Amino acid sequence: MRILILNGPNLNLLGRREPEIYGERDYEETMRDVAAFASQLGFSVDIRQTNHEGRLIDWLHEADAEGIDAVILNPGALTHYSYALHDAIVGVDTIVYEVHLSDPKKRKEPFRHHSVIKDACAYTFAGEGIGSYKKALEHLRKEWSS
Ligand code: DQA
Repeated sequence: MRILILNGPNLNLLGRREPEIYGERDYEETMRDVAAFASQLGFSVDIRQTNHEGRLIDWLHEADAEGIDAVILNPGALTHYSYALHDAIVGVDTIVYEVHLSDPKKRKEPFRHHSVIKDACAYTFAGEGIGSYKKALEHLRKEWSS
């Protein structure tokens, strides 16, 4: 099974950015851990990050065209206002899981309390740090083996 993991704006700053919320591990180390876990589960995984909304949308379209089995998507703050991302998720056949390191619903800024992509995604995993990605991968594994 081929999985694409997409990370959006500012996730490249992990480790430096609000470590009390996102943890102290940097982006590379965090994603190495996610990649190793995905491989253990038998997935072939490609992990990408961009600070650009349009690039995320292009990657979703490409994943669909290439027959990627599932996308695990952490869109960063785009979660809260990108209707273009919502429409891209609805527009592709590829199954998309929403993930977040923090639990945006429990954060102090009200703008984080709503996800405009949630309804377009199959499942959401949030608030468990890197565990959110791992839970999403485990969930996919279960879905595919049943
Ligand atoms: C985030 C939560 C978003 O509200 C925030 O803008 C991010 C990261 C998370 O993983 O917890 O950039 O998606």
